[in-house]
Amino acid sequence: MSLYPSVLFVLLVTMAAAETLRPGFYAQTCPEAEAIVRYEMMKAMIREPRSVASVMRFQFHDCFVNGCDASLLLDDTPNMLGEKLALSNINSLRSFEVVYEVKEALEKACPGIVSCADIIIMAARDAVALAGGPDWVVRLGRKDSLTASQEDSDNIMPSPRANATSLIDLFTKFNLSVKDLVALSGSHSIGEARCFSIMFRLYNQSGSGKPDPAIEPGFREKLDKLCPLGGDENVTGDLDATPKLFDNQYFKDLVAGRGFLNSDQTLFTFPQTREYVKLFSKDENEFFKAFVEGMLKMGELQSGKGGEIRTNCRVVNSQALDV
Ligand code: HEM
Ligand SMILES: *[C@@H]1O[C@H](CO)[C@@H](O)[C@H](O)[C@H]1NC(C)=O
Ligand SMILES: *[C@@H]1O[C@H](CO)[C@@H](O)[C@H](O)[C@H]1NC(C)=O
Ligand SMILES: *[C@@H]1O[C@H](CO)[C@@H](O)[C@H](O)[C@H]1NC(C)=O
Ligand SMILES: *[C@@H]1O[C@H](CO)[C@@H](O)[C@H](O)[C@H]1NC(C)=O
Repeated sequence: MSLYPSVLFVLLVTMAAAETLRPGFYAQTCPEAEAIVRYEMMKAMIREPRSVASVMRFQFHDCFVNGCDASLLLDDTPNMLGEKLALSNINSLRSFEVVYEVKEALEKACPGIVSCADIIIMAARDAVALAGGPDWVVRLGRKDSLTASQEDSDNIMPSPRANATSLIDLFTKFNLSVKDLVALSGSHSIGEARCFSIMFRLYNQSGSGKPDPAIEPGFREKLDKLCPLGGDENVTGDLDATPKLFDNQYFKDLVAGRGFLNSDQTLFTFPQTREYVKLFSKDENEFFKAFVEGMLKMGELQSGKGGEIRTNCRVVNSQALDV
């Protein structure tokens, strides 16, 4: 999917008015904030291990669409089509309830202080740390948006069919490097995806009527069984061989032709990204370092449009008062 020039333009010209983010933003106003988020995420992980992966994905889908402003969390209203039903999100994003539970706990401790946008950033970090990955300091102080845009999400978010060239182009528009792209794709070290996202690659890659030749034959057999033609496309498969553990297995799988999504395997197929895949497959520490850097950069994206601290992550405050 292409990024409309107008979307990018709005993002660029409004950067100047962005909030200043800093570590420990809530140290005085809500000292327990980060501990509360970590605790709620731990509870969610015990209840359902996959949920932390699902929540981690929110950072990507929020930050790429008009900045990290929790626009993703807004429900549709009669006047506004939100992002939850956008092409990449519908029947796919899940575990919204975890974020709502975190928000509830924070509102109890310090009402009206912690933004939903910052919750996504903290929760994504905690998901990775709790799954055995790196831990890092996040910069906070984001505001929540007053609107959301299904159209912008549709135009921006990449398809699972994407190749490395188009992914590089997309990430470049957000000042994210080739290294950032490969490292951030390593988020697929945890979680699952639907057969729906790989049917074309199993049975009709690029309209060829054949499977993607980059899939290792034994793995393809396994995927064909999981996702038969005419089967239930809501069935899910693991994004790597260790889907509950945040590690560099994802990159080892790509080297072996065992990437789940086309957008994953393409990172090894294309020469522009292959060296980073190889590097991360051999050196987990390099992966972790590059991943943290990428998450911090992605977390800096802002629309600069200003906003508020929502009381309820699903509705803007003015409408929360109406009901
Ligand atoms: C590089 C481009 C990317 C593409 C094309 C992509 C695409 C996808 C797709 C298609 C799914 C499965 C959806 C489904 O079948 O329902 C998925 C899952 C996931 N994505 Fe990505 N993704 C990308 C980058 C990222 C980034 C940057 C992050 C986070 C930093 C991320 C985090 C995740 C996670 C954690 C899951 C599993 C979620 C779950 O189990 O519920 N992805 N992605
Ligand atoms: C998959 O699940 C969604 C609800 O989560 C449903 O609307 C859709 O029809 C299902 N698709 C198939 C092919 O069963
Ligand atoms: C990559 O994908 C883009 C967009 O779909 C397409 O135009 C391009 O031809 C593809 N590149 C290669 C080398 O397949
Ligand atoms: C990318 O970096 C340039 C130069 O530092 C900056 O002006 C621009 O706002 C950045 N774009 C995005 C989307 O962050
Ligand atoms: C494969 O894709 C092509 C192009 O999108 C389409 O014309 C063709 O009907 C598809 N074949 C099958 C078997 O679905």
